[in-house]
Amino acid sequence: MYFYDIRYMFVTTKVVIIYSLSIFRVFSLCKFITNNMKSFLYIIAFAASVLIVFLSNAKGVPQAVTKAPGESGFDCGACHSGGNFNTSITLHVKDSSGNIVTQYEPDKTYQLEVMVTGQNNAKSYGFQMVALSDSDNKDQGRWTNLGTNVKTQNMLQRKYILQSNPRQDGIFTATWQAPPTDLGSVSFYFSGLAVNLNGSNTGDSPVSSKLTLPSSTISSLSDFHLNVVKIFPNPARNIIYISSSENVQPLGIFNSQGQKMSVNLTDPEKGIDISALPAGLYFLQHQGVFPHTVQTRSFIKD
Ligand code: HEC
Repeated sequence: MYFYDIRYMFVTTKVVIIYSLSIFRVFSLCKFITNNMKSFLYIIAFAASVLIVFLSNAKGVPQAVTKAPGESGFDCGACHSGGNFNTSITLHVKDSSGNIVTQYEPDKTYQLEVMVTGQNNAKSYGFQMVALSDSDNKDQGRWTNLGTNVKTQNMLQRKYILQSNPRQDGIFTATWQAPPTDLGSVSFYFSGLAVNLNGSNTGDSPVSSKLTLPSSTISSLSDFHLNVVKIFPNPARNIIYISSSENVQPLGIFNSQGQKMSVNLTDPEKGIDISALPAGLYFLQHQGVFPHTVQTRSFIKD
C-alpha cells in the first residue's frame, strides 16, 4: 500500500498546486509579476514540469500488480475499483505458425496476446504481465516487438510489460524469446483492468490470472536421456517408479522452490512413496545413466 499512498500524495500535490496557483492568481498575480518577473517564471516553469511528470504517469501503472510471487499480492484492484464490467483476461502463447502452445522450447520466439474483455460498456482496457521461472521466481525471457500501447518497465528487479496507454480493443501483444537453456516451467502472471475512462481510479474492474508453460527440451543428447529415464505414473498420488534401461540412483526430490523434500529413496525398485508430499510440481534428481552426470526429471503429485 506504500505506492498507493505515494500515488495519493501525487494526486493531492497536483490538486494543491493547481489550487494554490489559482488563489495566487486571484490575489496577487499582477503585483507579483511586476515585482518579481524572473522568480515568477521560474515558479511557473517548475510547477508545469511537476505537473507534466505526474500527468505523464496517468496512463501507466505505478506498481507491480500481477499477483506474482514477490509482489505485494494485489492486482490493479489495489487502487482501482467500483466498476461492474465483469472483466476477464486470457493469454495466448503462439509459435511462429500461429498455433497456441502449451510448452516452450528454450531460445524459441513466441507471439503473446493478452486479451482483456469486459461487459456493460467498458470504455477501454489496460494490463500488466511478467514471466518468471517457477524454480526461483526470477524473470525470464526477452521482450521484443512490443505492440501498440505496450511498454516495458523495470520493477522489483524484473522486467514487466504493461500498457503505455489503454486500448479500446483490450488486445495487447509482444514477442517473448524463451530463456536460452531449459529452466523448467515458466509462469506468466498477468492482470487486466476494464475502465470507464473518467480519468480516475473509480468505476473500474480489475482481474488477474496465471499461465504456466513447462519446457520441452529437444536436443539430441538430452532427448536420449529423456527416453531412457522416465517417472511413472505421472501425475501420481502415492508411489512413483523410475523406469530406465539402466540402473538409476535417485539423489533427492525437490519442490519448485528448490527445497529438498524428506522422502525415502533407499529402495527405488520398490517405488518411492510420495504420499506425504503436498500436491504440486516436483523434481527428482538422479544420477545419470552415463556415470558422473546428475539429471532431473519432473513429476506432478496429485
Ligand atoms: C498505486 C495505485 C494504482 C495501481 C496499482 C494501478 N493504478 Fe491505474 N490509476 C491510478 C490512478 C490514481 C489513476 C487516475 C489517473 C491518474 O492520476 O493517473 C489511474 C488511472 C488508470 C487508467 C485510466 C482510467 C480511467 O478510467 O480514466 C488506466 C487505464 C489504468 N489506471 C490502468 C491500470 C492498470 C491496468 C493497472 C494494473 C495493472 C493499474 N492501473 C494499477 C492508480 C493506480
